[in-house]
Parts: sequence; C-alpha cells; structure tokens
Amino acid sequence: MTEPALDLVIAALEKIRETNDRFPRASRTVLAHLQATSPVAVFLPATPKSNEGGRERSASRTERRLQALPSKAELLEPIRERVCACRKCAHLACSRTQTVFGVGNPDADLMFIGEAPGVDEDQQGEPFVGRAGQLLTKIIKAMNFAREDVYIANILKCRPDMPSGSFGNRAPTTTEMQTCRPYLVEQIDVIQPKVLVALGAVAVEGLLGMRGTMREMRGRWHAYNGIPLMITYHPAYLLRNQAPSEKRKVWEDMLEVLERLDQPITERQRNYFL
Ligand code: URA
Repeated sequence: MTEPALDLVIAALEKIRETNDRFPRASRTVLAHLQATSPVAVFLPATPKSNEGGRERSASRTERRLQALPSKAELLEPIRERVCACRKCAHLACSRTQTVFGVGNPDADLMFIGEAPGVDEDQQGEPFVGRAGQLLTKIIKAMNFAREDVYIANILKCRPDMPSGSFGNRAPTTTEMQTCRPYLVEQIDVIQPKVLVALGAVAVEGLLGMRGTMREMRGRWHAYNGIPLMITYHPAYLLRNQAPSEKRKVWEDMLEVLERLDQPITERQRNYFL
C-alpha cells in the first residue's frame, strides 16, 4: 500500500473511532492480508520520536522496518492446522478419515466451491478426486487451466457421516454448514480470487445462506463479499443427468467466467460441449 493510501486508511479509521461508540474491528486474517497487500513493507506501530516546534512527529515514516511478508500459502497454513484439529461437529470428527482443506494455487484468480468431501475425498484428503471430481477437472482443462492453476474447496471440510454399512454420500445439514463456513470464509479472505464458482445449490446455501432452485440461480452473476460469483450445476448433477443441454449450460456458465477473467476464448471453446 502506498504511503498516501495508508495515511487515508488510518485517517478513515481514526474518524470511525472518534464518531462511533465501538472501535473498528478486523479479523486476524484481514489484518494479515492488509499487511500482505503492501508490496515492500509492513508498517509497524508509530512511536513518537521528536518534538518539532511543539508538534510531535511520528517516527514511523523514518523508522519503517522491513519484514518478510507472508505469502498467501503461508497465510493458509494456520487455517489448515485449525481445520485439521477441528472437532466442532463431534459426529463428523469421529467418522472422518481426515479433513479435506482445499487444493490448488493460493494465488488463483479462480476458485471453485463444492459442498463436502465424498468417500474418495475423505480417503485421499483432497477435494474433487472422485467421479464428480474427474468431471470438474475435465471442465477446468477445457477452460485451458490446470487443476494447479485454480483453487478448489468445499463448504464442509469433513465428509458427512453415513450409517455404517450404507453407501453413497449425504448432503450436509444447515447446522454443519454454518459451523464449518467460517473456515471457507477465511480461505476466500486470503485467496481473494477474481471470480468464485459455486457448484450446486448446497454450495450456494452454504456460502450465501440463500436457498433457491438452480434453474433460477445458475448462469447469472451474483456476488460474495464483492467478488463476482457464478452459480452453476454441480458436476455430480451432470453425471446423473447426461442430457447434452445440461452439459452445455454448465459450459456456457464457464464461458461467462472466462470472459470475466479476461481470458482469450477460442472458436473451438465457444462451440465446445462438455
Ligand atoms: N463433491 C463435492 O462437492 N466436493 C467434493 O470434494 C467432492 C464431491
């Protein structure tokens, strides 16, 4: 952050403090991220140094110390550790093989959000590695990205438990999603992607707290915390419903995403069917 910009931010915060009963607050993640936005320096608290003509002059301008800035990958690590140790949903902590934090490039412009790990993800500790995941990977490749270029995470970091002996996956409950959501919020706060993609209605409910039919929500731009959010069908839906028209809808949503990211789109991509 440049010096005049930082001065403006400080002046605005001081104004809020003067005119409000409550002090401005910011989470640890936001503070760390604010520091990370400075290209060179972390500004340490100002300590009065000299008294020039009766006016105290802050020493911060001249005594600015340089510190190594944390990368986004480093900022994600403490969140990952808290997720790993999380036992807020005791039933899921007991049934999981491991937590599934997220995967990909912490500096990604594009972030996909799914609902929860399934059996394969629970076993491998990585989101979207099962059948639905393979289809998502295909979609990402058709967009001319690699899985390593984007970031992929779920609303829930644990696999929703299933009665013993039963197969398949169940949808997360509202309580489970509300309990786990803060981790995803922190991940997005750090990554600050240019575009978010919510895969399916459960991801939308988990992230935005909004319930609706995919028919009315998908294919349109929404926003999460000022970040453009595209809602599209979950790849598992495309596996259940193989109609070309449904696949084409998802692909059209992805073309919108590419346009929003200012990515070149080839004629082949325009005519592509998943
Ligand atoms: N479905 C999801 O929503 N997430 C996964 O990680 C796998 C399947």
